[in-house]
Amino acid sequence: MEHDQTPPDQTTPDTEAAGQADFVVVANRLPVRLEDDGSWALSPGGLVSAMLPVMRERSGSWVGWDGSDDGEAQRFEFEGITLSALALSHQEREEYYGGACNETIWPLFHDAIETTQFHRETWAAYRTVNQRFADAACAELAEGGTVWVHDYQLQLVPRMIRAQRPDVRIGFYLHIPFPPLELFSRLPWRAELLAGLLGADVIGVQTQADARNVLYGVRRFCEVDDLTFAGDGGVVRTGRETSVVKAFPISVDYEAIAEQAATDEVELAVKELRKELGDPKHVLLGVDRLDYTKGIDLRLKAIHELLMEHRLDPRSTAVIQVAVPSREDVQGYDSVRNRVEQLVGTINGDYGKLGRPVVQYIHKSLPFSELLVLYRAADVLLVTPFQDGMNLVAKEYVAARVDDTGALVLSEFAGAAEELSEAFLVNPYDTEHLKEQIAAAVSMDDEEQRSHMHAMRDTVQRNDLAAWATAFLALLSIS
Ligand code: G6P
Repeated sequence: MEHDQTPPDQTTPDTEAAGQADFVVVANRLPVRLEDDGSWALSPGGLVSAMLPVMRERSGSWVGWDGSDDGEAQRFEFEGITLSALALSHQEREEYYGGACNETIWPLFHDAIETTQFHRETWAAYRTVNQRFADAACAELAEGGTVWVHDYQLQLVPRMIRAQRPDVRIGFYLHIPFPPLELFSRLPWRAELLAGLLGADVIGVQTQADARNVLYGVRRFCEVDDLTFAGDGGVVRTGRETSVVKAFPISVDYEAIAEQAATDEVELAVKELRKELGDPKHVLLGVDRLDYTKGIDLRLKAIHELLMEHRLDPRSTAVIQVAVPSREDVQGYDSVRNRVEQLVGTINGDYGKLGRPVVQYIHKSLPFSELLVLYRAADVLLVTPFQDGMNLVAKEYVAARVDDTGALVLSEFAGAAEELSEAFLVNPYDTEHLKEQIAAAVSMDDEEQRSHMHAMRDTVQRNDLAAWATAFLALLSIS
């Protein structure tokens, strides 16, 4: 099928200010969202808080999309940085975002938990939209500037920028896992995707396994002059181009979270919440985007079995599951929602009492201040994805546990498991082991909790969000 959709009207670029940014971030999402009253508000999130200080310091510009299919391309100033918003047509939203990004790359890179779709027309849209992002970035970039491209939606962008702007330094960071060769090889556009990444001077990934997987792919599918594995990554050379591939595990703003979590306001809200829940002995919490990669259904199944086997007591246990709505038009998301909601219904039907369900289920996005209250109220956090780039919820929980109590049940397939080895690590596919680990986390004594949590907090504090950004940008400036 020919890709014949004309892009929506672009507003005239502000030529005077264009090409002035020393530091440009390119990400699928803008760091702001449109409020109901038509104004822009800062979106909460790690990437935004890591980038803003750097951008303000270095006359920064952020190229991204507002998520709509009727928005306008526009450029404007927001809290000290320039925002360059791209517009996508309805067809582009469906084919690029819904199709290539989230029905091809997302499932494939997450171990093909959901069937992966390979469609030439959606890949054509991926190319077209990546080119649009690259063009917008080039229009922002000052001579000799630096650009940092983010995530799986934009893997062709580094090469596209390199083709137009040999003068700039290009960094790329993949927030999701990079799959093993056997899986990656299925992608019909595998060589094109890798060539896209190799346009970057530095290719950052979450874990050492991801870095190795990128290099295995390059060795198999790209013609390069030299490829060396070294430390937690490696170096690829072709002609005059060099790309360093390296693991930079992303983190959270530890100090900001710890400070906010320690306030009297939060303490009070925690007490009130636990009271409302009936002063349970154990509060178990899950906080996830409602995504089939997160293993929410398996976790609920394990809880149901623990209740059936009397290893959890419904009278003294409260489970809170926050499931943030996500990608509702994309294949696989509807069915995971049905599975999760059916399990919640079954558990509450079997074990709840009138006015006192065992599982409190929230299908909405909560403000961070409310999440902090949940983190502090929860004795156990359950993070059980089948596959996850890092999982920042795990690190947020650890940062919020200011008294060093609490227990973390963490999938070995989350990037965070590489650093948080003191957690109760689980293979989420092994229901019996998952049940054992949940039961062990629930019954862990105070002293043990303190030693484990203290060690994990120390790790997150040492490698916080600022350290992550600084390390990446330092390597980029010398590569
Ligand atoms: C993951 C991805 C991000 C993405 C986010 C939300 O964390 O790594 O790139 O922005 O999910 O997904 P959405 O499709 O709503 O942007």
